[in-house]
Amino acid sequence: MSDHSIAETVAGLMPRARTELAELVAFASVADPAQFPRSECEAAARWCADTLRAEGFQDVSVFGTPDGTESVYGYLPGPQGAPTVLLYAHYDVQPPLDPDGWDSPPFELTDRDGRWYGRGAADCKGGFIMHLLALRALKANGGVPVGVKVILEGSEEQGTGGLERYAEEHPDLLTADTVVIGDTGNFRTGLPTVTATLRGMTVVRVRMDTLAGNLHSGQFGGAAPDALAALIRVLDSLRAEDGSTTVDGLTADQEWEGLAYPEDAFREDAKVLDGVGLIGSGAVADRVWARPAVTVLGIDCPPVVGATPSVQASARAAVSLRVPPGQDAVAATKLLTAHLEKHTPWGARVSVEHVGLGQPFLADTGSPAYTAMADAMRVAYPGQEMQVSGEGGSIPLCGTLAGLYPEAEFLLIGLSEPAAQIHAVNESVSPEELERMSVAEALFLRNYAASKGVPTG
Ligand code: BES
Ligand code: MN
Repeated sequence: MSDHSIAETVAGLMPRARTELAELVAFASVADPAQFPRSECEAAARWCADTLRAEGFQDVSVFGTPDGTESVYGYLPGPQGAPTVLLYAHYDVQPPLDPDGWDSPPFELTDRDGRWYGRGAADCKGGFIMHLLALRALKANGGVPVGVKVILEGSEEQGTGGLERYAEEHPDLLTADTVVIGDTGNFRTGLPTVTATLRGMTVVRVRMDTLAGNLHSGQFGGAAPDALAALIRVLDSLRAEDGSTTVDGLTADQEWEGLAYPEDAFREDAKVLDGVGLIGSGAVADRVWARPAVTVLGIDCPPVVGATPSVQASARAAVSLRVPPGQDAVAATKLLTAHLEKHTPWGARVSVEHVGLGQPFLADTGSPAYTAMADAMRVAYPGQEMQVSGEGGSIPLCGTLAGLYPEAEFLLIGLSEPAAQIHAVNESVSPEELERMSVAEALFLRNYAASKGVPTG
């Protein structure tokens, strides 16, 4: 079968893919019961399982994991002696944030300016649709030449590690020769990219207590130890003057060896306001792919409206630390904790709670699967060569699978290019990218099977 007919088949399947993605996006599958009812995630998981069954998958199951969320699994046997490929996506999504910030309802897939808008359209429900399109294209053109396992995680965005722990307890379930993670994205639209590294992440909550209760800020202010001021000071100690992350003892001078991230491209992707500078030191790619980065995710303190003239007795912050490849997230968490304790001023009572941790990831880009993908991407994106980039975000399961299956090859691809604005309001997916990346994935599976000696017609 020609590469051309794969592309034609995928093109013909796009209207159905649009309908399916709209159905999947309609579930508000935010895996946080404090924000959305569990039934949304349960219904999304059932939809995924039904779709796999209809696709001929065997052993399809929706199973509970230790963090209380469900993952979906299915297996499609391949020809005798064929390698097994594990396809990953997650069906949970980030919360929509400010509903008024969206130009169309977050859970209604909406066409605008040639893109499809909706929460999870790119991250990562579109990733599951990409896997489906690739498999359907192969089926229509001589068959799927590899054994396929699909695993769909239900709490990736929470960092609560349910599937990671399940996988460790059931090490046979996800064994594969190659793992395709459909949860990253091209360096930019139209430029086919495999992501070779991910940062890990650790999240802590730091709490300051200084007084038995709040006090009048005139009567006591100036001498009474202010817990919010102590918190602000300790949070600020995590940054140098230029904004780089400074955690005592944590290395922060690594350099990114691959693809450059031009500063103007970054400014545009990040939508930095005119006249505002970037923070950190080194090249942009060093900062976002190779070095640690602290972010204050939230602060518990009185909101501005309704604030009274008081000195605060307690204050709390959630802080994340992105941990670059080559560093250990457990060791980084210890250093961060020690730093927060050491830099707490005035003898304030400080407590640091660890709320989530995922290890960084580093793929072996010399593995044969990379050649198969480079050949596939050259065909799916005529005139373009496969790029190998880093990524500053995290997919905690990658580190777990790499630890469980040291022989497996890993390819990270997907639809979350910068224009997708994942995690923000107005997230969207490019239908052209969905189409081309699905073609690339189908051709990859065929090239990969052929490289392992499986006849592919
Ligand atoms: N799909 C993202 C990771 C990603 C980000 C890939 C940007 C490509 C570009 C993933 O779903 C994600 O956001 N993960 C969380 C994990 C965390 C909660 C442990 C993240 O990185 O914040
Ligand atoms: Mn994702």
